Amino acid sequence: MKNIKTIIFDAYGTLFDVNSAAEKCKNRIGEKWEPFANYWRTTQLEYTWLRSLMGRHQDFWKVTEQSLDKSMKIFKIDASMKDELLDLYKVLSTFPEVEETLKKLKKKYKLVILSNGTPSLLKELVSSNNLESIFDDVLSIEEVKIYKPHPNVYNIPVKKYQIEKNKFAYLSANTWDVSAAGNFGFNAVWVNRNKNIFDNLDYKPITEINNLGDLINLL
Ligand code: LAC
Repeated sequence: MKNIKTIIFDAYGTLFDVNSAAEKCKNRIGEKWEPFANYWRTTQLEYTWLRSLMGRHQDFWKVTEQSLDKSMKIFKIDASMKDELLDLYKVLSTFPEVEETLKKLKKKYKLVILSNGTPSLLKELVSSNNLESIFDDVLSIEEVKIYKPHPNVYNIPVKKYQIEKNKFAYLSANTWDVSAAGNFGFNAVWVNRNKNIFDNLDYKPITEINNLGDLINLL
């Protein structure tokens, strides 16, 4: 990757650990906390894709709540925990290497978030993790009211900065998001923390890293 000026990060699952909300309640949820967290995340994403296809947009907070509601019923989790889980979703933890890596990258690059999250959700995530001074911009799909992987989403930063697509690096842990960003024209890098298998969606990542820290040697 050459001449990169701006690094765009996906938020949920890439910078912020989506399972950390359920994990913080694992004493009460019990052993099923992790399959429950995975099911909640999968359902949440399915709802974003289905809503985009149906042309019935609801913001990410509504989708998160509606997917939680179904997941709690499937996993028989006491309904009284719903508000607590939702509150914890507003203050998800970052993955361990995130803060230090972003501080290093900040010295050389413009750093931007591009996420399905609403502007207020993203603001709270960034501030609860003390990352306000790190990001030049926090961009939300609410600008275009359609979810990733629609190309209109990846066009938000291109329109905003008026620079060529190949001057952006795009980082995501979500394979389908890497494929979509790469097919769009970004230099898309896969953050593969859990030794997963990549998707077959017309684009293979420029490179694969185990965590964000590896990005420092790559750029
Ligand atoms: C996001 C989801 C895809 O932050 O993780 O956009």
